[in-house]
Amino acid sequence: MSQKTVVTFGTFDLFHYGHLKILERAAAYGDRLIVGISSDQFNFEKKKKYPVFSEGHRMEIVSAIRYVEGVFLEESFEKKREYLVEHQADVFVMGDDWRGKFDEFKDICEVVYLERTPELSTTEYKSIIRNLLDS
Ligand code: CTP
Repeated sequence: MSQKTVVTFGTFDLFHYGHLKILERAAAYGDRLIVGISSDQFNFEKKKKYPVFSEGHRMEIVSAIRYVEGVFLEESFEKKREYLVEHQADVFVMGDDWRGKFDEFKDICEVVYLERTPELSTTEYKSIIRNLLDS
């Protein structure tokens, strides 16, 4: 019987609990989870800032998570369909901050939006650290 492949994407900078939880929940949708890690340049185009951790380090950290079978570098929004086909995605999972944005891929795989873990984000952690340094 063929394996069910789940694909998700993200920057995963300053890897935190919300990241761990989405990977755990995404993996539960199939037999193997493959994660597209936003390149440093793509992240700058998307969020107007460079990640703190380099793409190489972020890829290594995410690939060491036990729910993850493999990672690849995501370089643009335009290549999303190509990535999904290349990695033979049966299910495409994203956090619900992206709800509705990837419905165009429902012709090639199941598209699932998962609720974000409340109140956690890389941005929030950066601000907590900034405040600690200022106090
Ligand atoms: N995510 C989540 N719960 C959180 C934070 C992130 O489920 N509390 C999910 C996102 O929805 C996405 C994946 O983790 O599917 C990677 O998110 P990413 O943008 O890298 O992390 P953020 O913490 O949201 O980063 P930032 O604050 O820079 O936007």
